[in-house]
Amino acid sequence: MKKTARAHTNIALIKYWGKANSALKTPLMSSLSMTLDAFYTDTTFNHDSSLIEDTFILNGKKQTPEASKRVFNYIHLLQDRFGFNDHFTIESTNHVPTSAGLASSASAFSALATSFAASYDLDLSKKELSRLARLGSGSATRSIYGGFVEWQKGNDDASSYAIPIDEHPDLDLSLLALEVDTKQKKISSTEGMKLAQTSPFYEPWIKRNKQEIAEIKQAISDKDFTKIGELSELSANEMHACNLTAKEPFTYFEPETIKAIKLVEDLRKKGIECYYTIDAGPNVKILCTLRNRKEIISAVQKTLSNVKIVVASFGPGVTLL
Ligand code: DP6
Repeated sequence: MKKTARAHTNIALIKYWGKANSALKTPLMSSLSMTLDAFYTDTTFNHDSSLIEDTFILNGKKQTPEASKRVFNYIHLLQDRFGFNDHFTIESTNHVPTSAGLASSASAFSALATSFAASYDLDLSKKELSRLARLGSGSATRSIYGGFVEWQKGNDDASSYAIPIDEHPDLDLSLLALEVDTKQKKISSTEGMKLAQTSPFYEPWIKRNKQEIAEIKQAISDKDFTKIGELSELSANEMHACNLTAKEPFTYFEPETIKAIKLVEDLRKKGIECYYTIDAGPNVKILCTLRNRKEIISAVQKTLSNVKIVVASFGPGVTLL
């Protein structure tokens, strides 16, 4: 049966950056994200005993076996779990710049898990879908839900899944995604998080995780934009500090990334409240309120050359189309 699912990306405000089990993608820490309305993936899954091979079509282009490997391995893993073994076709359209720190894998694997389950007529709860999405990519665990989402780290495959914190937040919060460089990143998330664990700052960071999650959940329920912004920026800086202090130090930052960080700091000094967060790439995302949005956009355009700005806010959870 042919089924299509749409999933939106999410941006982690409290970061996931380390695996307890790399095959199961269970994390070393809980994380908390905001699902975004502006970026999403539509995926159609079809399986049929008459198909003679597995096919993966991305943005209208049939992918080579090499480029399809991660996706095929993932589907074979799911098929093994549920006892299926027929061939399949996956057609995916990404409305997210691939591999540039805007987690396209989050929307991709969330949409894929959901279309897979629907195509095989598996009657799975969102909790089960969240666990399946996790097996494809950690951040996909959270894209099953909309709004604010917590991925509870759990301690095994059964207990590591996302829960919705507030799917329709009544909060004035916009995210400006600054696409400073959409080239493919050099160090994958999987590789980066392994290296980061060699930092002397890594363990102290993990120890603070429970408290950081509790604090941001409190800030969300208090609708406290300042606190949400401060905690988000801190978590991003903790992650990037671990990268810079790893045994083999590395950074995702590019010159334009630093310019954007400085701009946010300058704007704050001028009383224009905004905060940044950065993932495994050079792009910077700015958190702000509606009141300051226009002014921040024009300051970004003045300061950074060739920057593309996409405005986002809260997006919905995964849906079948
Ligand atoms: C920095 O989910 O892409 O965006 O589990 O290896 O697929 P894998 O990693 P991925 O890592 C995302 C890391 C992050 C932070 C986050 O989204 O929490």
